[in-house]
Amino acid sequence: MSAPSHVMNTYGRLPFALSHGRGCRVWDTEGREYLDALAGIAVNTLGHGHPKLVPALQEQVARLIHCSNYYQMPLQEQLAAKLCELSGLSAAFFCSTGLEANEGAIKIARKYGHDRGIERPEIIVYEKAFHGRSIATLSATGNPKVQKGFEPLVEGFIRVPLNDIAAVRDVARSNPNVVAVFLEVIQGEGGINPARGDYLRDLRALCDERNWLLMLDEVQCGMGRTGKWFAHQWAGIVPDVMPMAKGLGSGVPVGAIVVGPKARDVLGPGNHGTTFGGNPLAMRAGIETLRIMVEDRLLDNAAAVGERIKSGLQREFAGHKGVIEIRGQGLMLGIELDRPCGDLVGRAAKAGLLISVTAESVVRLLPPLIMSAQEADEVLRILVPLIGEFIAAA
Ligand SMILES: Cc1ncc(COP(=O)(O)O)c(C=O)c1O
Repeated sequence: MSAPSHVMNTYGRLPFALSHGRGCRVWDTEGREYLDALAGIAVNTLGHGHPKLVPALQEQVARLIHCSNYYQMPLQEQLAAKLCELSGLSAAFFCSTGLEANEGAIKIARKYGHDRGIERPEIIVYEKAFHGRSIATLSATGNPKVQKGFEPLVEGFIRVPLNDIAAVRDVARSNPNVVAVFLEVIQGEGGINPARGDYLRDLRALCDERNWLLMLDEVQCGMGRTGKWFAHQWAGIVPDVMPMAKGLGSGVPVGAIVVGPKARDVLGPGNHGTTFGGNPLAMRAGIETLRIMVEDRLLDNAAAVGERIKSGLQREFAGHKGVIEIRGQGLMLGIELDRPCGDLVGRAAKAGLLISVTAESVVRLLPPLIMSAQEADEVLRILVPLIGEFIAAA
């Protein structure tokens, strides 16, 4: 019998441990090889052991890992400038995780309201949304399972369904305290549910009309995953507040809130901060990740390889009983089945493929952005028969 674990039991874990990786491949401690179509849940942008990233991080570790925000931070300046250039926004605050970025966005929205004389500011949030597991971000999340047991929830959120602009207009008419709209451009944990382009443009117009902040959670769908730097860029809009994290540091924890002119001066000295946020190692990871993404044309790769997987899935599952829809963009894809399919995660791992299942019945693919066309074909070769057998057996 194995010894009792001293790690708190908060995750359902598969029965193996990963030991090392190279590119889109990882190996477990027993020497079994896996093709990684999950990238640590959209984190390992550059895959594993990237030959350009590793030496840069080694150099940074030897030079300076951490210093406090008491000092000038040239690497923060550098990464912030790059994120602003890519997004058309004007300033960034750095933290370490997605929930922290979202928590900061919620604080910005509330302070923005207070600055305009709204004492009980409200934020419009969405059914099936996921924004994190702190008390405020789980309150903004639209999944009762994430919230259960942690009540009382934080107040000040009004929930609407996705892609229904009339619902937002109704809230606007009846509630003078709204200060912001907060949504994922493609809901990740909620089942790969995209906000439509016309819906995002309508929201942008409504936010301008009402002087609300448009806050787009790009934690999972951002950082080039959809084939543009940020998923909202497909709709041709610019948000006021953009929380991001996951892929930004290629595995080194880095989060950011990137803001436009409406939000850039809302927080001042003493309003917000975090010890680890923006430390030199994290900033170097972000800077090098972006540099390598440009050098290696990874946006184009994400778009092309993602399309190859998506069209392959659509071809294989056209009219297939049990497959409801294949959706998503670039390398953020979901295959919705007509039944819970969590078992597929373990079955895929046994067959040498790392994937996840979200919202109970959606097989989710989030591979590293370096995935090749050959590896994409291998994903299809392993996954398609597994899903076919799973449906046939049930
Ligand atoms: C859209 C979105 N926002 C926020 C988060 C929370 O990020 P983190 O787990 O880094 O706190 C996640 C995590 O899955 C996410 O997908």
